[in-house]
Amino acid sequence: MTDTVPYYEDLTEIKKKIWSMLDKAVKDRGSPFRIPVFICGDQSDLDGRIVVLRKSDQSNNIVQYHSDFRSDKIEKLKANKNAAMLFYDKDEKIQVRLKVDCIINHKNDVTKESWSKTQHISRKCYLVDNGPGTESEIPTSGLKPELDNFDYTKEQSEEGYKNFTVIQCKIKSIEWLYLAAKGHRRAKFDIQNKKENWLVP
Ligand SMILES: Cc1cc2nc3c(=O)[nH]c(=O)nc-3n(C[C@H](O)[C@H](O)[C@H](O)COP(=O)(O)O)c2cc1C
Repeated sequence: MTDTVPYYEDLTEIKKKIWSMLDKAVKDRGSPFRIPVFICGDQSDLDGRIVVLRKSDQSNNIVQYHSDFRSDKIEKLKANKNAAMLFYDKDEKIQVRLKVDCIINHKNDVTKESWSKTQHISRKCYLVDNGPGTESEIPTSGLKPELDNFDYTKEQSEEGYKNFTVIQCKIKSIEWLYLAAKGHRRAKFDIQNKKENWLVP
């Protein structure tokens, strides 16, 4: 990059910036990129939801998040592994759209590694008796009262492992949009076809 070219007019610098924002989001709870929208489904039933970004791996073009194995999206992803992720950072004025192929990890080495790093309080999510989206006659968290009050041991929390899933999102393309008063900029990084180009915003 030369001194006269700002980062947002240099495709290599833009890619660096995107990955630095994804890396930061994994560590920093306050980062806007921490909670992207994950969208999946089929032609007649598409759905988006917020997830927490848990890992970014530029060398393998993978980002990942955790889920309950009983979530409706697991069946959707088994039928169609194509999905999208959407990020927006208001201060940076950057939107990032990912097209991804999803790998569902359940009771394997990937889940073992991630589960070992989950905190006591996060494990609560995986201890609900019935899966997310199950209908209930009453307003409920789905948890027994003692679990709601975090009154469980690490050993008891191991029960949640059977529901714990890691969704690895293998990135096929990245689209970046930067909003600037003097003129927006948009670029596409087609990872699959190793092609990068500017787009009209
Ligand atoms: C801030 C926030 C973070 C969330 N993180 C996750 C997550 O990491 N994984 C997940 O499966 N659901 C997460 N959820 C819940 C989902 O948005 C969604 O409600 C849930 O997964 C059930 O819908 P689904 O089965 O269609 O995905 C989060 C919700 C919010 C508001």
